[in-house]
Amino acid sequence: MFKNIIIIIACFILQFLHAQQLQSPSKEVELIFSLNDKGTAVYEVKYKGQAVIKSSRLGLKIKNGTDLFEGFKIVKSETARFDEIWQPVLGEESHIKNHYNEIKFHLVQNETNKKLDIVFKVYDEGVAFRYQFPFNESVEYFVISEEMTEFNLTGNHKAFWIPGDYDSQEYVYNETKLSEIDNSKLDLANGIALKSIQSNYRVQSPLMLKSDAGLYINIFEAAVVNYPVMHLDVDTSTFQLTANLAPNAIGDKAYLRTPSTTPWRTIMVSDDAREIVGSKMILNLNEPNKIEDTSWIIPMKYVGIWWEMHVGKSTWDYAGSQNAQNAGTGRMIPTGKHGATIENTKRYIDFAAKHGFDAVLVEGWNVGWEDWFGNWKEDVFDFTTPYPDFDIEAIMEYAKSKGIKMIMHHETSGSVANYERHLDRAMALMKKYDYPAVKTGYVGRIIPRGEFHDGQTMVNHFNFVAQRMAENKLLVNSHESVRPTGYSRTYPNYIAAEAARGNEFNAWSIGNPPAHETILPFTRLLGGPMDYTPGIFETKMGIYDEGKKDYQLHTTLAKQLALYVTMYSPLQMAADLPENYENHLDAFQFIKDVPVDWQKSIYLEAEPGDYLTVVRKDKNSENWYLGAITDENARKTSIKLDFLDPNQVYVATIYQDSKNADWKDNPKAYQIVTKTVTHKSYIQLNMAKGGGTAVSLKLKN
Ligand code: NOJ
Ligand code: CA
Repeated sequence: MFKNIIIIIACFILQFLHAQQLQSPSKEVELIFSLNDKGTAVYEVKYKGQAVIKSSRLGLKIKNGTDLFEGFKIVKSETARFDEIWQPVLGEESHIKNHYNEIKFHLVQNETNKKLDIVFKVYDEGVAFRYQFPFNESVEYFVISEEMTEFNLTGNHKAFWIPGDYDSQEYVYNETKLSEIDNSKLDLANGIALKSIQSNYRVQSPLMLKSDAGLYINIFEAAVVNYPVMHLDVDTSTFQLTANLAPNAIGDKAYLRTPSTTPWRTIMVSDDAREIVGSKMILNLNEPNKIEDTSWIIPMKYVGIWWEMHVGKSTWDYAGSQNAQNAGTGRMIPTGKHGATIENTKRYIDFAAKHGFDAVLVEGWNVGWEDWFGNWKEDVFDFTTPYPDFDIEAIMEYAKSKGIKMIMHHETSGSVANYERHLDRAMALMKKYDYPAVKTGYVGRIIPRGEFHDGQTMVNHFNFVAQRMAENKLLVNSHESVRPTGYSRTYPNYIAAEAARGNEFNAWSIGNPPAHETILPFTRLLGGPMDYTPGIFETKMGIYDEGKKDYQLHTTLAKQLALYVTMYSPLQMAADLPENYENHLDAFQFIKDVPVDWQKSIYLEAEPGDYLTVVRKDKNSENWYLGAITDENARKTSIKLDFLDPNQVYVATIYQDSKNADWKDNPKAYQIVTKTVTHKSYIQLNMAKGGGTAVSLKLKN
């Protein structure tokens, strides 16, 4: 069943400038590579004969050395073909095809005699390339001071972009022409402080684009390992994008030695948006799974002591910030609002057990929250000392008696050096009390000071944590981390990450506009699962606090259900308060039913910024689940169920917006309709403004 063929087709000795082409297996995507008259490597990408990337230069700036940019000759090129099917431990698909044609150019710089290899993989959904620094007789150490990779676009495309902030991706997407990108025009008073935006014309990757001719183009990267994150500088008049690597505290970009490689730079392209959103190219470009025994890597649905802090009903801290100086001394005066108490945790465990959830997350269980925010201290948390009202042993025994797992929380408040110092003891505590998973957090600026979340040091930290957790058979869900670039293929215990603007923003800011969840699958989710924390039923924050009456979800309740299908993650939270679910048990049934690990996924309809409809088949049954979402516009569509087994009859349960629903004034108006369907049936979806539909299609007995 598995095919793994690498055929070396040709090996040329080339002395002259000579353009070489390579097509994808379908022949629709084409790469053209040559050296220009300065001996600089240049490439072009075409799709169905149309230019996608015009002649663009490749190269790197080297600190205290000759740049790897000009004066090259091609010594040799090798081509190969690869066609394989692999099985992810958890995923949108049980089998993933990795099929591409490859060409590797061996270059030598005339003046320095330095070798540089550039490898291209040409997939049906786009092109990936990376730089390789081969072993040159002796090991060489070098510092990259900038990557000069260009992506020269063919026109003033529409772009879905967030500002190039080296410390955070938690922004609302802007949808403008490339020529209109300008960070100075952004209203950043929307729940996030301006952090590390250093140029008005820098955006983050993945950058999703649409040309006037209807081509969907996505610029991103894969397998970011021992290298900083790539942002993109935009020339708003020529539409040239240039790589900009997140620097370290002293302005260097990457410290490397030979042999080594950069991450893959990716250009996805299609005239059908569904091909982009369904692409597994980013995962495919990562190294295969390194964990032998994967029996402990399990999907999970969880609830937690979490939203109640975000809406201000309870607090993470036990004693309030005025007691910061007494933290951990026993002299703290409790505020009476602490969320992580034994009683409250038991209440969540009972709720999880009653409704068939796997796990309970508890935030605010450990000493330190009195002054966690603002980078005042290097050692805010030790990750092992519970507050006096959180008896970790009693809670674990209670959870076990109810068949529930506990999810640990490690908020580092950006103090990474402190976290690394405590990591072994923190993991030992998790093992002692049988916590299978941890949610980590990196709120605020990084300590050591001057480092950015997106720099090489932090990339290595996030990957190191995934590896150390894997050695201890622990799952990781990181918040405020580098955005994933497919590393969950290599370390499938890296089960989810936030690394984008999650549902939490709706609790305490102007929130996420209705289009937000239609863009994330084209951007953040291409790199791996997101812990978006859907399932908020009580959509208006004014009910918790009169002062927050302007804050609300920008979706209907039915759309919150649909997000469990549209926003892929093997770790999904039912994020609202238990009491809010008790008031809507009929709708809650969908969250209880929906699986989080899949056999197959089919993107039926997709348009970034507008709508998305996806249907997925459960990994462990014959049942299918559909999620459809729209932006601020109401949407009607008709879905043919021809993906169903032709020999079976199914019961469709449709959770939809009522006729008079809309996200702003009537978000909780939903209906549940049940009907018998076959593969010949159609279902009509009527989505409200900011609405959505969730459907379960279960085999009829
Ligand atoms: C931000 C995270 O995204 C959120 O989930 C968490 O509750 C807070 N930090 C506190 O750690
Ligand atoms: Ca966050």
